[in-house]
Amino acid sequence: MISNDINDIAERISRLGTESAFEVLNKAKALEAKGVNVIHLEIGQPDFRTPDHVSKAACDGIMAGHTGYTSSQGELFLREAIAKHSKEYYNINTNPDEIVVVPGGKPIMFFTMLSLINPGDEVIYPNPGFPIYESCINFAGGVPVPCPMLMENGFKIDAKQLKKLITDKTKLVIINSPGNPTGGVMEEKDIREIADILKDKDIYVLSDEIYSRLIFNGVKHFSIASIPEMKDKTVVLNGFSKPYAMTGWRIGYGIMNRQIAQTMTTLMVNSSSCVAGFIQEAAKAALEGPQDCVKKMAESYKDRLNFVVDELNNINGIKCLMPKGSFYLFPDISETGLDDKDFAERLLNEAGVATLAGSSFGKYGSGHIRISGATSKENLEEALRRIENFVEKLKVEKLSA
Ligand SMILES: Cc1ncc(COP(=O)(O)O)c(C=O)c1O
Repeated sequence: MISNDINDIAERISRLGTESAFEVLNKAKALEAKGVNVIHLEIGQPDFRTPDHVSKAACDGIMAGHTGYTSSQGELFLREAIAKHSKEYYNINTNPDEIVVVPGGKPIMFFTMLSLINPGDEVIYPNPGFPIYESCINFAGGVPVPCPMLMENGFKIDAKQLKKLITDKTKLVIINSPGNPTGGVMEEKDIREIADILKDKDIYVLSDEIYSRLIFNGVKHFSIASIPEMKDKTVVLNGFSKPYAMTGWRIGYGIMNRQIAQTMTTLMVNSSSCVAGFIQEAAKAALEGPQDCVKKMAESYKDRLNFVVDELNNINGIKCLMPKGSFYLFPDISETGLDDKDFAERLLNEAGVATLAGSSFGKYGSGHIRISGATSKENLEEALRRIENFVEKLKVEKLSA
């Protein structure tokens, strides 16, 4: 008989972490159900509709009956389009055999760990960083080695520090530029410094470039896979969720050497089987159709972030860098006297603004909160008013303590 006992759950599951964005979203929804007005700055979700020409390609595909199983590696027409796009936008020389299409960008993280990491292998990962990196490393039995991404360093990897973290057990280094949660961007010079360290070593790179089209303030994206010596040692994670506002469609892809591509295809056969054909047709339309929609979205995020950064820096006790990409801000709130968890919790409960505690992205994120700028200007204005009042209230509390 099934006992419904927690002990029935396999041990490996205890090694999985989660994303606090979804937990905070649930808490915020519970408050809303009680009638509280909440402004959502917690979830990393574009606030644009998927461009119409992309949605139309999917509808046409459904009506044409493209609703059956497809190739587990991804349809050739889409892998060819991705190879062409990768050359044009990222200067990566690749071909359809080196590309695997998966449901969202996220599976590439999980599949990279399952494909490359043996128990005891060390994986250097950005901290603060996307929480699923650490979760997948632990799940695969790897040893997570945090690489600090600090505000004083523009939220970039410091090459000297990276060098110190490498041991003979290091199997993989994860880089993420533009970065979640910080919006930090590593430019060509920074990436070349990392490549110089790794070039002659038996170490792979997972380069998460999901925000690479959302980059601004005169900065250019540079992919480590465009450096010939790094190409076969790198798994590039990219996708459609953020540049084309397609988070719910669940489609992304990886670029990697042929051997890893075959392994990831086997993982697809064993998990999702494939991505729906009509969704792959929409993804092709996204890559090959007009790109002004991507530029417009990036411009809009930039304008909103600029506005929020200026306003935040006017609040006594908050310091914020202007990010060079993504749609996130990662202000330092430590001078308010609260730690980041208490700050985020009380800001939600007492002021109705949902944000994420920086430490939920790793220990080097403490003292910060993450704000997503992907909401309307009106919401941002109201959120800033509430944040300012909340910080004022904290000061009064401190004085009367
Ligand atoms: C850094 C980073 N990589 C990958 C992903 C996953 O993207 P997708 O929704 O396509 O799975 C996210 C999503 O928030 C992200 O922030």
